[in-house]
Amino acid sequence: MKNLRPSQNSRVHFSGICVYLCPSVAIKNPIIVALDVPSAEQALKLAEQVAPAVGAFKIGKELFVSAGPDIVKRVRATGASVFLDLKFHDIPNTVAKAIAAATRLDVQMLTIHTSGGGEMMRAAEKSAQDTAKSLSLPAPLVLGVTVLTSSDANTLAEIGCQTNVGHQVERLATLAVKSGLRGLVCSPLEIADLRQILPPEIQLVTPGIRTGAEKADDQKRTLSPREAIQAGASWLVIGRPIYAAENPRLAAEKILESIF
Ligand code: C5P
Repeated sequence: MKNLRPSQNSRVHFSGICVYLCPSVAIKNPIIVALDVPSAEQALKLAEQVAPAVGAFKIGKELFVSAGPDIVKRVRATGASVFLDLKFHDIPNTVAKAIAAATRLDVQMLTIHTSGGGEMMRAAEKSAQDTAKSLSLPAPLVLGVTVLTSSDANTLAEIGCQTNVGHQVERLATLAVKSGLRGLVCSPLEIADLRQILPPEIQLVTPGIRTGAEKADDQKRTLSPREAIQAGASWLVIGRPIYAAENPRLAAEKILESIF
């Protein structure tokens, strides 16, 4: 099993593929497994099974609402890195306080909606930096979500946004970077375009990864793990291809091998 370590300049080269690794996050490979299960026990069992083959775990709304902040502490206690995917979107003061609370839980990545605007994003990043500094921790990577992959031009029109999805993604991504965010969540098919317009150090995290061995489920716009990394993804969020596999650990190992 490959154990990838961030180099000092935060880039690692493997067979001509350049993976950007966040210097403040000691994550050993780019696979983030979504712990999309309803209970703490199931999440911890899955995490234990696949931990040696993956870089981090994503805790989303279902698990967090069922199991509470304690599940973050329990996954962190195993030594694993945590991506807390709660997609905050509120007034700047409220988002800043939620980010401070997440930073105190010692998560390595978390998400906010870029549509909350520049002031909200600046408050989020500042809160992550200030809280981490006060605790002598590395600041978590605050990732901006642009347009949800479930939205299309009709969804945008419904809410008074007369533009196409690509332009809106570009607009929000640019605003996020101007507002100080160091990373974004994007669909696999947006990675290459975003890499053209964003500074190279911006971390791109993408779900919608499928190996071809399984069905696409409800993901419509997918890439393979290798294609996503080649297009410029920094991290891959993978759920069902790992947790629904007969042998999750083996599935994760095969995915890692397929990337490099
Ligand atoms: O099972 P699957 O690999 O499709 O899981 C993908 C994970 O990424 C899920 O936790 C899902 O909520 C999340 N996600 C997504 N599409 C987005 C944003 C997040 O699939 N646009």
